[in-house]
Amino acid sequence: MLTYLDDILTCEGVPLPQIAAAAGTPAYVYSKAELLGRARAYQHAAGDALVCYAVKANGNPALLSLLRQAGLGADVTSGGELYLALHAGIPPERIIYSGVGKRPDEIEMALRAGIRALHVESGMELDVIAGLAETVGQPARISVRVNPDISADTHPYDSTGRLGHKFGVPRATAVSLLRRAAADPWLQPEGIAAHIGSQITRLEPYHDLANFLVALAGELAEAGIRLSYIDVGGGLGINYQNDDAPPIPDWIAAVGDPVRAAGYALVMEPGRSIIAPAGFLLTRVLYTKEQGGKSFVIVDGGQNDLIRPAMYGAFHPALPVVRKEHAAEVVVDVVGPICETGDFLARERPLPPLQPHDLLAFTQAGAYGFAMSSNYNGRLRLPELLIDGDRYHLIRRRQTYEHLLDGTQ
Ligand code: LLP
Repeated sequence: MLTYLDDILTCEGVPLPQIAAAAGTPAYVYSKAELLGRARAYQHAAGDALVCYAVKANGNPALLSLLRQAGLGADVTSGGELYLALHAGIPPERIIYSGVGKRPDEIEMALRAGIRALHVESGMELDVIAGLAETVGQPARISVRVNPDISADTHPYDSTGRLGHKFGVPRATAVSLLRRAAADPWLQPEGIAAHIGSQITRLEPYHDLANFLVALAGELAEAGIRLSYIDVGGGLGINYQNDDAPPIPDWIAAVGDPVRAAGYALVMEPGRSIIAPAGFLLTRVLYTKEQGGKSFVIVDGGQNDLIRPAMYGAFHPALPVVRKEHAAEVVVDVVGPICETGDFLARERPLPPLQPHDLLAFTQAGAYGFAMSSNYNGRLRLPELLIDGDRYHLIRRRQTYEHLLDGTQ
């Protein structure tokens, strides 16, 4: 998607300096071809499975509508994400709703919209759903999110499948919640779901997960509860620093084959692996300085724009927009304007010498980039652009200072 042409970095053939001149920096830029290529890879390998894109990774309306056109459903985690998914035209029967803390108004919104299922994460939540289903006057389709107690090699904040985490319910509780649901006229049990974490690059935990879920579904069937689907969650990692992420079809085979062999419909909730490689953050160097034995490159993008390095110590490749092939590299910290020492985009990174006005692209930033951005330090949320063939257009305007006053007057 990104290639150097005559030493200038281009995305689908569009030179990045042209984008920086038109939209200003910092800015998020996405490739339509890359996004659709990845969405199609999922659809192709998934066959008749339901691929629910995890909207939390990136909820831009234009991108959601492209994913809807590619046939994907949505995994939402709040009323806001449900609103975005419906707004993008994703059919309610392709929407599932996960999350440990759904408010009653959000549950009611989902029930009225007629989504595929609410994924329940506690007994108390099940009671609230049953009560609201009665109020709305139509039974609620539910699945139970099970905590499989499977560990995933990833950042601790990106691991969700151990019993010490807040997510899902233990196996025995899942069985009792589904029994309860089966006996309640206002609840309709549909499936079981799990999600063991994010940025996982080994398939082994997924084999374990699929086998765990199929065994649990079998146990439920013996108890007279026949489920229609098994949802294996998301979490497939991508290549940030190492080339160790399995291809999409391999992941789908690992999680999907046992589920299909057991006769259940397959549902999955990928986010990052669809959208991260399709986006990058374009920044411009403001200043450089040397102190304390270190070289700092200060750029106009900071942790409020891309918090992953600060929050998870994440690595995003940094590509100079003008290639200086023969220049010796220097080891630098690329930092932003935010008043925090944790505000870095790259640390101890060998890069060619950079000067003010030079452009740097931080790649693999399409997931959890804009979505986690904020107005911290009074900074405006960034514009987003979509490159479509040899053209590009704005899919979100840069905020203006007036946005900082929203609702305060
Ligand atoms: N399903 C559920 C219930 C989830 O909680 C998540 C992500 C997904 C699906 C999608 O997972 P993915 O395929 O994107 O790995 N902000 C962190 C990632 C947090 C992931 C939260 N849950 C980061 O930037 O690394």
